[in-house]
Amino acid sequence: MVVAMTTRRLNDHGGTAAVEVRGLVKHYGETKALDGVDLQVRQGTVLGVLGPNGAGKTTLVRVLSTLIKPDAGSARVAGYDVLTQPRQLRRVIGLTGQYASVDEKLSGRENLYMIGRLLDLSRTDARARADELLERFSLTEAAKRPAMQYSGGMRRRLDLAASMIGRPSVLYLDEPTTGLDPRTRNEVWDEVQGMVADGATVLLTTQYMEEAEQLANELTVIDRGRVIAEGRVAELKAKVGGRTLQIRPTDPAQAAAMAALIGGAGLDGVAGANADPAEGMVSVPILSDEQLTAVVALVSARGFGIAHIDTHLPSLDEVFLAITGRPAESAETGDATGTETGDGTGEAEAAGTARDGGARTAKNDLTHDDENVEVTV
Ligand SMILES: Nc1ncnc2c1ncn2[C@@H]1O[C@H](COP(=O)(O)OP(=O)(O)OP(=O)(O)O)[C@@H](O)[C@H]1O
Ligand SMILES: [Mg+2]
Repeated sequence: MVVAMTTRRLNDHGGTAAVEVRGLVKHYGETKALDGVDLQVRQGTVLGVLGPNGAGKTTLVRVLSTLIKPDAGSARVAGYDVLTQPRQLRRVIGLTGQYASVDEKLSGRENLYMIGRLLDLSRTDARARADELLERFSLTEAAKRPAMQYSGGMRRRLDLAASMIGRPSVLYLDEPTTGLDPRTRNEVWDEVQGMVADGATVLLTTQYMEEAEQLANELTVIDRGRVIAEGRVAELKAKVGGRTLQIRPTDPAQAAAMAALIGGAGLDGVAGANADPAEGMVSVPILSDEQLTAVVALVSARGFGIAHIDTHLPSLDEVFLAITGRPAESAETGDATGTETGDGTGEAEAAGTARDGGARTAKNDLTHDDENVEVTV
């Protein structure tokens, strides 16, 4: 089921598509990692690609990075086709993979310098760019320490810095904050917001609803290789789950009586109300502004004092549940590592390098300059 939020075309926004994906298919044996995905990322915006484990997020990023080839469909990034113009395409993208791609033994500065050199910067330029990015990502003090001594957040910031060396116009961030504590996650969010403010177009994959809400302009929800919903974050939430109206009576002890009144009033489309006596709060699921007004009018007409009114959109976890009928966490039943099959074209190997150590493999692969190279730009 696709929840068609809006079927607007890009032109309706007056924007051009920095990333344009049509009918993308990628199978691994029986596994349909991508099963006909369509999406667009407008220039200068952030698209959140939201999906549980095994949804196909990393596969999508790998196709869009030219690390693997799709079985069918097409994809263009900054106007370049993934199949016919992979080299041009690689020059305009930055990739922060799901797994850290820095060389542990090298210092932060050496990592960035090396990547700059791989991208053909002169020694002077590579040094200058490394220092600039270390400063930008608050890593100047740690610049000379080996990356293995970095905290999770510092490593992630180094990953982001590494992806920025080539001044990419389109950035892929594959689950940039998975495994980070909340404070560190906030730091990474700040950095991403800074990149967007500087004009980058971002395709961000995430399993965190909150992350999508914080960073993304629009969302594409994927599940088992298929797009199951798309739209703006607020639209998606409102469409799927309605809203919850919360009313706090002036006298908290009256919460139960207020809930009983609302539940028994037979207001059109208002199914009922829940009282939370401990909080002195009443919650009412509503679908429209008219219902909100009717509920508030009813309780005030009956003499209840109102201390506070609020409405909440449902969380994206609830949205996912509403769309798929199951919680976001439990989509993948198989064991991803156990089903690695490859397909005889060296793609499994290329995909493996994306997981394990981009910077190091970048050195080897870039010198080969073949089709499926790992590029840490
Ligand atoms: N090289 C491969 N060989 C075989 N199967 C693969 C390979 N890469 C991915 N898959 C399978 O394709 C599906 C999609 O995987 P993918 O890594 O794209 O998911 P994901 O959305 O990134 O998940 P996660 O959130 O866990 O990173 C999964 O079922 C996975 O097991
Ligand atoms: Mg992944």
